[in-house]
Amino acid sequence: ETKIKQDKICIVGSGLIGRSFAMLFAASGYQVYLYDIQLAQVTDALDNIRIQLLNLEGMGLLRGTLTVDQQHSCIKGASDLGEAIKGAWFVLECVPERLDLKTVVYKSIDPLLEPNAILGSSASALVPSLLSKDLKNRNRFIVVHPTNPPFYAPLVELVPAPWTDADVLPAIKSLCTEIGQAPVVLNKEIDGFVLNRIQYAIIGECWNLVKAGVMSSEDVDKVMSEGLGRRYAFMGPLETAYLNADGWLSYKDRYAEMMERVTSNFEPFPKIEGPTLQKIHDEFARKIPLDQLDARREWRDARLAQLSKLKKEMDK
Ligand code: NAI
Repeated sequence: ETKIKQDKICIVGSGLIGRSFAMLFAASGYQVYLYDIQLAQVTDALDNIRIQLLNLEGMGLLRGTLTVDQQHSCIKGASDLGEAIKGAWFVLECVPERLDLKTVVYKSIDPLLEPNAILGSSASALVPSLLSKDLKNRNRFIVVHPTNPPFYAPLVELVPAPWTDADVLPAIKSLCTEIGQAPVVLNKEIDGFVLNRIQYAIIGECWNLVKAGVMSSEDVDKVMSEGLGRRYAFMGPLETAYLNADGWLSYKDRYAEMMERVTSNFEPFPKIEGPTLQKIHDEFARKIPLDQLDARREWRDARLAQLSKLKKEMDK
């Protein structure tokens, strides 16, 4: 049974990711203070969160045992940064991915942090040493990179800076697990972290195959959605390979030479420009006109929701 806690968490930036995190923390009973430079964003977030919570309830996917009203009342809008941060043991920055902007935001957060409070960033690619180098509290800094949409794709990449105190990672790891997300840890920082590095490797090869005229964009995507993606929804490529032979040593005997031959003529990551850019864009625009993106996002999220439900059932 989920209990309403007194522990306070502050979120700075109430856009797409800030509001998702607010919901995740509130579902575990945390007191969440949501701040934004634009007050209208906070008001909009609070309205939008209620709608999202009701939708989740309708699908049987509300997390924890608190009701929609209880979860919603755990989230409070704040118009003053000091008020939002006061008493919070964890402050999570969710402002746009620009180093200059994040740096300015940290300058105002840094002096307001409670002693030993942790400062997290939902940065997608910027490394923590770059983000936190000038902070007084840089030893309390950690990147907490979620996956969109966080409710249906629970992966969170945790990236401490080289100077982050040893107690920060386990504290945030257990928080992520408690709220039902799936944390992974980068033992050292690397630009783009792991999710985006793998994602870009895939996008690069898809692009190069379309450019070479091997397949249409639609069919290349189908290779993922009907093939690789189906398998990867439940286990990763390394375990998939392990099972495709009798373990990795046998996989090596059977496939290593082929893997090396095939990848020896891989093109480097392409320049995202020119006729291939137009071709890929046009192929999708014919199928999903730009004024119908929201409908297609809903289509996607409804399927991701059902997949979450299936996984929840099967992993019981
Ligand atoms: P967003 O644009 O939806 O929201 C950003 C919010 O920050 C806005 O509400 C804006 O008013 C607010 N903001 C701007 N300047 C501010 C300031 N000085 N103080 C307080 N609030 C301020 O952006 P989104 O998508 O939520 O991204 C936030 C972070 O999360 C970025 O670092 C992004 O890379 C990362 N991220 C985004 C994902 C996505 O798919 N959208 C996935 C994973 C991480």
